[in-house]
Amino acid sequence: LENKSQKASLEEKLDEIKTAFTYGEIVAIPTETVYGLAADARNPEAIHKIFQAKGRPGDNPLIIHIHDVAQLEKFTPPLDKRVKTMMAHFWPGPISFILPLVGDYLASNAVAELNSVAVRMPSHPVGRKIIQHADMPLAAPSANLSGKPSPTNAHHVIDDLNNKVYGVVDSESADYGIESTVLDCTQFPYRIARPGAISRADLEAVLNVEVESFEGDSDKPISPGMKYKHYAPHQPLIVIEGGITNNTKLPVERHQKVGLIAPESCREFIDGEVQFISLCRDEQSYKEAARNLYAALRVMDTSDVDIIFIHGFDKNPESEGLMNRIYKATGNEVISGD
Ligand code: TXA
Ligand code: MG
Repeated sequence: LENKSQKASLEEKLDEIKTAFTYGEIVAIPTETVYGLAADARNPEAIHKIFQAKGRPGDNPLIIHIHDVAQLEKFTPPLDKRVKTMMAHFWPGPISFILPLVGDYLASNAVAELNSVAVRMPSHPVGRKIIQHADMPLAAPSANLSGKPSPTNAHHVIDDLNNKVYGVVDSESADYGIESTVLDCTQFPYRIARPGAISRADLEAVLNVEVESFEGDSDKPISPGMKYKHYAPHQPLIVIEGGITNNTKLPVERHQKVGLIAPESCREFIDGEVQFISLCRDEQSYKEAARNLYAALRVMDTSDVDIIFIHGFDKNPESEGLMNRIYKATGNEVISGD
């Protein structure tokens, strides 16, 4: 946006992206959480392309991205007062609300044939412009292959989906780095179906009531997406709980090349043979850790290490989203650091 010619080219690109959506194409767009793979949520063929490109199971519904709360009138009943309050407070921003779905305005495959729908209004400056300019509901899951870590920059998207999408919008890296918090508002008290970028503490402060974290049983979670293994590199990945110290012994065999993902403050406890990726400054830097987590997992995935360890953070309302993603990636393999 620095000078007129750049501005003109941005306008032209926004037009091109809108046209692509109108013709049922899929385009990867930046958001403040992770990159999304977007398509017109009213067009079943376009939605089908998203599931195909990602290799995503059809029973896993997509989040619908909007730029104006008025768009919801076309497919949800009038909003609850508390939902309105939360939307006013957190939107645009990294939280999705599950609401009852009405009518057949949205393609039924976008919502996996459910009678509810998750909606979100992103704040990313470029992502938001694209959604505004397109002026249609855009279904957008994370723009990764199913099972891989979500993409936090355009290169990750190209690594996963090159040739399978109409285009990838290159913009700055995602700010939060983990996906939106998904709050089920179809019944009261509301429940967190997926912890994420907005913490439970933030939610409770606005709602003035306690919010349950409820993922449901692993077979039948509220969010179908939570039952799948996620974000995993191909090597075994193990969480070290309780902190890394001088006494931490990693259970590895002699010939194994070892990777460790941990706060910078843990580096001094680790011998030089270990491939170390610094996640954040120290053990309380949850936001920084979330921002860097998926890129670190991708680097380890493509490195020659045989086994990966990752530092486990304290469990508290601020770290929930981060720890959820770490456990999902490890499949709950845990050792103690002391
Ligand atoms: O931050 C985000 O939310 C990113 C960006 C691109 O907006 N999107 C994202 O989408 O993470 P996806 O498809 O990767 O994850 C959507 C999650 C899944 O776990 C899905 O099961 C759940 O939301 N979900 C969507 N609609 C739902 C519904 N009606 N009921 C329950 N869960 C739903
Ligand atoms: Mg995803």
